[in-house]
Amino acid sequence: KQYTEEIEQFAPTSIADVEAFRLKFLVSKGIVKSLFEEFKTVSSEEKRVLGKVLNEFKQLAEDKFQEAQAEFQQSTSALERKESDLTLPGEGMELGSRHPLSLVRKEIVEIFKKLGFVVSEGPEIEDDWHNFSALNFPPEHPARDMQDTFFIKKQDGNDIALRTHTSSVQVRMMEMGKPPFRAIMPGRVYRNEAISARAHCFFHQVEGLYVDENVSFADLKQTLFHFVQELYGEGTKVRFRPSYFPFTEPSAEMDISCTICKGAGCNLCKGSGWVEILGCGMVDPNVLENCGIDSKKYSGFAFGMGIERVTNLKYEIKDLRLFSENDARFLSQFETEI
Ligand code: PHE
Repeated sequence: KQYTEEIEQFAPTSIADVEAFRLKFLVSKGIVKSLFEEFKTVSSEEKRVLGKVLNEFKQLAEDKFQEAQAEFQQSTSALERKESDLTLPGEGMELGSRHPLSLVRKEIVEIFKKLGFVVSEGPEIEDDWHNFSALNFPPEHPARDMQDTFFIKKQDGNDIALRTHTSSVQVRMMEMGKPPFRAIMPGRVYRNEAISARAHCFFHQVEGLYVDENVSFADLKQTLFHFVQELYGEGTKVRFRPSYFPFTEPSAEMDISCTICKGAGCNLCKGSGWVEILGCGMVDPNVLENCGIDSKKYSGFAFGMGIERVTNLKYEIKDLRLFSENDARFLSQFETEI
């Protein structure tokens, strides 16, 4: 009687419940079988009454099992039917987005391509000659300390290091060919600096080089002015401040009117209205000669800018570390390109 009740109330919620039911009642060591074993031992009058009850009980258990099994089989096939229901709307494919530095590098390269600059690249592991000596950094000159270098192997004069700037690509390019040169050289550079919101041990630069007969500082100014108008919009102002680099003479740093406050003064430009974006100058004749180019016949200009800096200004990013942390919340905010 107790079992009859249990069976009647059996309401399986999963296929596992149904299997548990089967194991309890219907297998050869299950309850139904054991009751029939007991039945053999009772007197023949009792058998007459109990026989009927037992048969009904067995039937009930089997029916209940069939019913439960059918129910679950049906629901799985319903699920299967749903899976191949061609009228259901599709699941959209999620597209990744471009890294902001890639977007900005591409934009910079596109602007210069229209001016006739070709793209050129060089190795990230450099020797002393290409990173320093050919660029007019004398052997023990303090100018080498301008950039904290990661040395891989230090040997007198033949040091191998991670390049500290893309200016090394200028040298490779000039050594390999003949003027005129008009090239843009994007790449990753390394400096031994503590990582913070404002400095990192690696970052990206775009170098520019233009060497031909009669290239003047006016060409440099006009090229960079045009670049800034294209990248940050018409009306962006530029100013040049005298500076020093061993490989350019004269040298300058270029500032642009702050892209956030348009020169009115804000946190980014610290109230000055100006932000520095690149270093530039006329290629030092010594550098031309080091690369086998006649400095009496040819002159040129060069510039180098940090892509992170340019990107920060464009997207108002305040922490350099975001660029290399791969946080999807940051990266997914940038545009997708197919
Ligand atoms: N190489 C310089 C730097 O890393 C930038 C620069 C490039 C300056 C070309 C002048 C000319 O800071």
